Parts: sequence; structure tokens; C-alpha cells
Amino acid sequence: MSFFEYKNSVQHIEQLSVLDLAQRHPTPFYCYSAGKIQTQFRLFADTFSHLNTLVCFAVKVNSNQAVLSLLAGQGAGADVVSMGEIKRALAANIPAQKIVFSGVAKTELEMAFALEQNILCFNVESEPELIVLANVAKNLKITANISFRINPNVDARTHKKISTGKKGDKFGIDIEQAIELYQQANSLEYINVTGIDMHIGSQISDVTSFDQAIQKIKTLYFELKTLNINIEHVDFGGGLAVQYEEDQPTEAQLLTQYAQVINRHAPDFACQIIFEPGRFITANAGVLISKVIYKKEQSNKTFLIVDAGMNDLIRPTLYDATHKITAATKKEVFESVDVVGPVCETGDYFALDRTMEVVGQNELIVIHTTGAYCAVASNSYNSRPVIAEILVQGDQDYVIRKAQTIKDMIDLDIVPACLK
Ligand code: LLP
Repeated sequence: MSFFEYKNSVQHIEQLSVLDLAQRHPTPFYCYSAGKIQTQFRLFADTFSHLNTLVCFAVKVNSNQAVLSLLAGQGAGADVVSMGEIKRALAANIPAQKIVFSGVAKTELEMAFALEQNILCFNVESEPELIVLANVAKNLKITANISFRINPNVDARTHKKISTGKKGDKFGIDIEQAIELYQQANSLEYINVTGIDMHIGSQISDVTSFDQAIQKIKTLYFELKTLNINIEHVDFGGGLAVQYEEDQPTEAQLLTQYAQVINRHAPDFACQIIFEPGRFITANAGVLISKVIYKKEQSNKTFLIVDAGMNDLIRPTLYDATHKITAATKKEVFESVDVVGPVCETGDYFALDRTMEVVGQNELIVIHTTGAYCAVASNSYNSRPVIAEILVQGDQDYVIRKAQTIKDMIDLDIVPACLK
């Protein structure tokens, strides 16, 4: 079942028309399909239901409390990278025992909080972090369960800004140092080694990268076993790609290929397998709805200037990401345009020289595959308030994040008395 369909030539999200939604909610806004999020999570989790697994949604991808609550209801755990994300996961009723804490720079404050909550595992990324964690744990007299995030030195063949598993990346521990660190950790008070962790990057569509990395993790797993180091779980991270453009494989196809890799290796691991998918669950469950403010023809170019800007959606300019853009009302005629925003930056664009449907002033466009890493990365640059998020379930729509107001923004600033 598709949750994003045209009915009478109008884009619908579940049972609601984008035109009606834009009557009720001022543009621009993000809009998610609850059914699609749930379906993607089930697809992923059910694919591995024959194994002993825990699926920890990567909270950084979409941390809206409503989205997290929806996933908590499906049994999801959480992969978090800050105290803020731990608090968000707990507030959405994700049990602490399903939370894994990743990230290269956990602070003492964050460690103490996570220990007091009794989270499942810390994914430790360096020796100094191990030492600090051991001290914090000792002071609190609470044992920390840890994995080391291993950098397996594998090319994820993805955009350079989202590749994390190659030598020289800031993430994880070089695989050559792993045994020594595991032995050190094993000798520390209040540190309990429970796992091995990896995450080699994001938007990975060539599953041989996962295959190579898991193979290396497996060798380490057997070495640790011979040293009697206890491994209760292996965490394969996230990273599976989604379909942004029509000529790319679908998520279902990629999941099938990924599952072949996992199923080939899984029997060798006599322990639980943790996954940290993010993009796969929510990317294609979200769209950004925006309105054309002006259409400007100049120097043989047509600019579609819309009311969303790079502050609302930064992926095209930051990662050269391609997001499909369609008219809310289907058109039969096409033209080449630059779709740009109102922000005073040349990098404020969503598409350059894109052939798309002819859309006029005041008409609505739909920017697709924006349910992951989009709203979470929005900001108020140019004093543009952070926009709303809407969730659609069946024929109901809910505001799940209010748009910021200009007053909200101004009220955060403080003018010292001497300047008044
Ligand atoms: N686990 C860890 C430790 C991660 O760092 C990430 C993502 C994930 C899991 C989830 O990966 P996914 O399944 O979503 O690929 N902002 C960029 C992507 C940054 C990825 C950060 N790490 C973008 O918009 O493409």
C-alpha cells in the first residue's frame, strides 16, 4: 500500500489532500505519514524476526516525540548520541534497556545521566572515553555495559560527508587496536564488556560494504571468544540507503540484499544482533510542502522561488542531495527550472536545472523523501522561524511540532541593561 498517492490528480498523504492540508497549516511545513513510518519499521524488524535482534531507531534522524512514540509502540529501541536524545527517547516511552548510546564525545554529565537511567550499552569510541566512563561509573558505583565501536576500514562508497568506517575518519577504534582495548576494558572496575559495535556510514546502497565490515567484525568476535571476553551482542549500526530518485533501487529491494548479507553471517554470532536504522524508517514517510512565491525568468533561466529555504532543508546544498520535487496538482507539461528559497545565500536551492512540472506563482510543490535528517537539521537562519511538523494518520492530521514564532526567537536574546 502506498501512503503517498495522487487522487484526482492531487497529491494525497494517506487520505488527506495536500491542498486541504495547506489550507489548514501555513506553508512551509513537514508532513509525515504515520502508516508509512509504521510499515517501514515493521518491514525492517520482521525481516529479521527469525533472529535474536533489537532494532534501535537512530533518533538523530527524526526526533519528534510523536514519531518516537509511534516507533516505541512498535517495540523500537533507540540509538542516541546526546543526553537530549536519551531524554527524548525516554519521554516517548522507549525503555532505557533498549537504548544504546553512540557518539565520539560523550561528556561526563551525559555518561552519569545514562548510567543512572541504566541504559543497555555505551558504544565507546576511544581509550580516553573508556577511562572517563570508568571513573564516572566508579564514582556512581554503577557498572557501565560497553561495546567498542570498531572502525573496520571499509569503504562505504557513499557521500564523503557521511562515510564513517574508513581509516582516518574520526569515528570508532582502529580494528588493529581493538583486542588491546577490550583486554584493558575487561580489567577495569565498573566496566562490563558486552558487545561489539560498528557503523560504517549512511545512504549505503552497495551492500558488499556491509559484508566486508561484518566479516572483519566476525574475525574480532572469534578472537575475543578465545580470550574469554564476553560478547552478548554485536551491533551492525545503520546505513542502509533509501530511494531518492526513481532510477535508484527501492527500499524493499535494498533490504532484501542487506538481509542476504545478514543471514549469511548471523548464524556465526551466538549472541543478539542490534541494528541502528534511521533513514530507512522515516525518509520516505515525509514530505516538505512549500508554496511558490515568485517565478522569475532571467538570463535564459527560470527560477521557482519558494517559501521554504535552506534553513528548513539543508540536504541539497550540504550533501548535493537530490530530492524529487513534484507539483501538488499533477501537471502534464514540464520545464527546466532552478528551485530556490528566499534565504540570502547562493547555496539556498533545492534543485538546479531540474526538469519538472510547470508550476505557477502561489501553487504548491512537494519535496519528497524529507522524513529523515531534514526537520532535525532545520534552523532559524535569516530570522526565519523553524517550521511546523504535521503527522497524518488516515483522514486525521495532527500538528506534532508547532512552528516557532518570531516572538519565540526574539525572546531568546537578552539585551543587557546597559544597552537599553
Ligand atoms: N548509528 C550511528 C552511530 C549513526 O551515526 C547513524 C547516522 C545511524 C546509526 C543511522 O544511519 P542511517 O540508517 O540513517 O543511515 N545528515 C546526513 C546523514 C548523517 C548520518 C549520521 N549517522 C544526511 O542527511 O544524509
